[in-house]
Amino acid sequence: MLAEGFLWGAATAAHQVEGNNTGSDVWALENAPGSILPERSGDACDSYHRWREDMDVVRELGLNAYRFSVEWARIEPEQGRFSLAELAHYRRMIEGCAERGLTPVVTLHHFTCPRWFSAGGGWTGPDGIDPFRRYVRQVRTILDGVPWVCTINEPNMLAMITGMRRGGERKENVAGAMPPPDQEVAEALTAAHRAAREELSGLTGTRSGWTVANQNFQAVEGAEALAQEWAYTREDQFLDIAKDDDFVGVQAYTRVVIGPDGPVAPAPDARRTITGWEFYPEALEGAVRHTSERTGGVPVLVTENGIATADDGERIAYTREALAGLGRAVADGADVRGYLHWSLLDNYEWGSWAPTFGLAAVDRGTFARTVKPSARWYGDLARSGRLPE
Ligand code: NOJ
Repeated sequence: MLAEGFLWGAATAAHQVEGNNTGSDVWALENAPGSILPERSGDACDSYHRWREDMDVVRELGLNAYRFSVEWARIEPEQGRFSLAELAHYRRMIEGCAERGLTPVVTLHHFTCPRWFSAGGGWTGPDGIDPFRRYVRQVRTILDGVPWVCTINEPNMLAMITGMRRGGERKENVAGAMPPPDQEVAEALTAAHRAAREELSGLTGTRSGWTVANQNFQAVEGAEALAQEWAYTREDQFLDIAKDDDFVGVQAYTRVVIGPDGPVAPAPDARRTITGWEFYPEALEGAVRHTSERTGGVPVLVTENGIATADDGERIAYTREALAGLGRAVADGADVRGYLHWSLLDNYEWGSWAPTFGLAAVDRGTFARTVKPSARWYGDLARSGRLPE
């Protein structure tokens, strides 16, 4: 049985859909001469202006939840100067959800920081996490009635990426070939997360937690201890922090297999998605089971799961299998409160427009949204209120 009020939703993140997020550090990176990022976000999906249309799509499909993020760089374009107009913008979005019967799931930080923050040293800079705490204090003023707040999206990936940028290294974003999270940044993010939870405490009915990227580590025979080490460094240390939280977000796409020498590349004939990741819908079940066990039963919200594919039938197949696995985990007692598909829209995938994760396509010239058959399939499933067998 699914939890009462189970969320069936879709997710986005500000920088990936809004467009013209010019005050952010990622925009600066994209537009720097000789940028390491091959493509730019530009107008993105113009969701900054078209968010009503986006939410209409979510509602019309028959879903009941929408995850989006608020953009720190817009809310605090210069250090200490908070924009009331931008806060009001995001407040309207929260109310827009309510008007459509959608439960808002709001993320406070989804990979991007204001330029001034990063330029001043970022998470490990001289001001530490104080700027983030002050930002959260401002956002709190618009969060009345928001039941789910994600403090920091994928702290494990953020600590890795920030570490790479600190070290000036460039690494391929391929699961398994990634460097470990920078521990100093990881500690700062932990402090930032706790500070955010403190700032939010007292908001009636608001649950807060962070959303951890789960790599579904699997060991080949004999490599169990090494696989555990990899899992600890890359995700378990972040799941341990979530033991004290109101919920934990699970974000799962694929698996990483660990052999005696570390990650083992998928077989040459393995089915892969546009991101290069192995097609492995069972990852969600594994991630949910692992997260539940590791946190000792903290309520789970699947805050992301999906597939980058140009074949929409494949999206249905992937999602059906992932959700069937979720059902098995629930049947075995995992306390899962909802599922938010990544993503509502074909959006900007951090350097590239090629990976199409969307339930809806976006015409990059007119910004027209076209709902895909997978979206209808998912909406019908949500209406039925049952996970596939
Ligand atoms: C994780 C991130 O939170 C999101 O921004 C990204 O687009 C998806 N996974 C797919 O890579």
